[in-house]
Amino acid sequence: MSMTHPRAGRPRERVLTMRGIGKRFGAVRALTDVDFWVDEGEVVALVGDNGAGKSTLVKVLAGVHPPDAGTIEFDGDLVQIGSPADAQELGIETIFQDLALCDNLDVVANLWLGRELIDGATLDEVDMEQRTWTLLRELSAKIPSVRVPVASLSGGQRQTVAIARSLIGDPRVVILDEPTAALGVAQTAEVLNLIERLRERGHGVILISHNMADVMAVADRVVVLRLGRNNGVYNVADVTSETLIAAITGAADNAASRRAAERPGLVATPSDADVPAGVDDDADGDHEAPPTGGGTVIRMPQTGARRKPGDRTDGRR
Ligand SMILES: Nc1ncnc2c1ncn2[C@@H]1O[C@H](COP(=O)(O)OP(=O)(O)O)[C@@H](O)[C@H]1O
Ligand SMILES: [Mg+2]
Repeated sequence: MSMTHPRAGRPRERVLTMRGIGKRFGAVRALTDVDFWVDEGEVVALVGDNGAGKSTLVKVLAGVHPPDAGTIEFDGDLVQIGSPADAQELGIETIFQDLALCDNLDVVANLWLGRELIDGATLDEVDMEQRTWTLLRELSAKIPSVRVPVASLSGGQRQTVAIARSLIGDPRVVILDEPTAALGVAQTAEVLNLIERLRERGHGVILISHNMADVMAVADRVVVLRLGRNNGVYNVADVTSETLIAAITGAADNAASRRAAERPGLVATPSDADVPAGVDDDADGDHEAPPTGGGTVIRMPQTGARRKPGDRTDGRR
C-alpha cells in the first residue's frame, strides 16, 4: 500500500472516460448514451432522482453490469470491465451503501480481509495494525481503537473503515454510493473531510448523493442524470443548488433541456482535450444552455488521459 503521494505535484490526468454508455434491463432502458469522466484528484458528484441510473452507471464501472453500448477508457486505454475482479485490478474501488463490513471482526481484520499480510506461516498482525494506524492518521480519521469489532463503531466510523479498506490497493478511482445518507450532522462532516483527504491523495472520487449541501461542500464537478440520460455537467464553483435541482427534476423543462434530452447531457465534443472545466460551451456557436439560469455547462473532452510512452494497450497494467 502506498502511504506516499506519488502523484502530487504532477498535472492532473484523466483517469476514466465513459462514452455513449447504454444499459438495458429487459424493456427498461436504465442508461442511454451516457458520457462521464473523472480526473485524478477530482471529486465528481453523480446526482439524479430515484431511477435516474446512478447506481447502474457505477455498477458498470464496478464490473457488476457489463454495458450494452459505449466505451470505457482507463488511463488512456480502452478497457472492458467484465467482473468486479477486473474493476479492482484496474484500480476502481466501490463502497456500496451497505458497506459490506464484517461486524464481528475488528477494524484491522476488516481492512485487510482477503489481502492479509503474511509473516512466514502466520498473519503479520503487528504490520497490519501499524499500517492501519498510518492510513487512518493520513485520513485524519477518528477511530478510537482498531481492535474493536466494527459493530461497536458509529455510522461515520463504519463509513471511515469502509473507505480506508478501499484504499489498501491504492486505487485510482474510489466510488461512494450515498455515503452520508444514514449519518447525522457531525458524522457527515467527518465523511466529507475524508472525501477531501481522498482528493488530496490524488484519487479520482465519484460521489453519489441526494444531499445538495454535501455536493456543494465537497464536489468539484457535478454530473446530472435524468431518466437514464445526461442532463448537464456543472462546475460546483459556478452553479447553485437550485439549478442542480431543476436539472435533476426536469422542473425547468424548456427548449434547452429538451434538446439536451435529444442530445444527451449538453455534452458537446470539443477539438481540444485540455479545455478546462467550465469553459463556455458556446465557443462552438452551438448556443446550448443549461436547463435553467446559472451554472456553466461543461463539455466532454475529446480524448481521455494522455497516453504515456510504453503504456500497454491491452487494458491491463
Ligand atoms: N437489476 C435490475 N433489473 C432490472 N431493472 C433495474 C435493475 N437495476 C436497475 N434497474 C432499473 O434501472 C433504472 C435505473 O436504476 P438505478 O440505476 O438503480 O437508479 P438510481 O441509482 O439513480 O436510483 C430504474 O428504472 C431501475 O428500476
Ligand atoms: Mg441507486
